[in-house]
Amino acid sequence: MHRTWPHPRVVCHRGGGALAPENTLAGIRKAAAMGFGGVEFDVMLSADKVPLLIHDETLDRTTNGRGSVTAMPYARLASLDAGAWFSPEYRGERVPSFEEAGKLCAQLGLWANVEIKPARGFERETGVAVAKLALELWGGASISPLLSSFEPASLEAARAAAPGLDRGYLTDRLGSGWDEAARALGCVSVHCNCKYLTEGQADEVRGAGYWLLCYTVNEPVIARRLFSWGIDAIFTDRLDLIPPDFA
Ligand code: G3P
Ligand code: MG
Repeated sequence: MHRTWPHPRVVCHRGGGALAPENTLAGIRKAAAMGFGGVEFDVMLSADKVPLLIHDETLDRTTNGRGSVTAMPYARLASLDAGAWFSPEYRGERVPSFEEAGKLCAQLGLWANVEIKPARGFERETGVAVAKLALELWGGASISPLLSSFEPASLEAARAAAPGLDRGYLTDRLGSGWDEAARALGCVSVHCNCKYLTEGQADEVRGAGYWLLCYTVNEPVIARRLFSWGIDAIFTDRLDLIPPDFA
């Protein structure tokens, strides 16, 4: 018997999806303001090992900074503009620390899927830092976050640092051996790209006892199909097209 997914079924991708600059507090606030119950965001380490929200290993696409995230201490990263690239309305939005984002989620009553997104070479270190801080931020709370990563080493390190926190096995395409890998990492869920998932694979994943989450689902017709296959939750950028009560 498959346990019922206890978290929101529509999760806002990178904070506020396409409606706000990704991985910012403004995005998280946008998701809450629109009535969503959960957000996903990406966490990497600064040069001085502060976990912060950003997707790319370089600053260039989503901030007014240049170069590698891991080369800059957090105090400097925090002085960058992470909103102006998106629209003038968000000028002055900063690169948030994971601590700020986690506290904001708790304050707004949002569930979080924390994606551990290590820069190359920092897989274990990032897994440990994120898991330890997640424990501090959510320890004792009734809703706890789900830690996921494309990097098995990050999940393994997170498991060692905070064995009681749920982990999700994140992969683009479900290849052979996904079950052994997810099981070896003690994962409760499998997260994959909706572009490649088949109904048969969805049955297989859920039949093996995992919750199944798909990214990035931006078309209602696809969301509908995935939910009809029994998918537990989707990540979306289109907060305007796929409402919180869609499923
Ligand atoms: O965690 C789901 C999704 O966010 C994975 O892809 O590249 O948007 O972090 P990406
Ligand atoms: Mg992500």
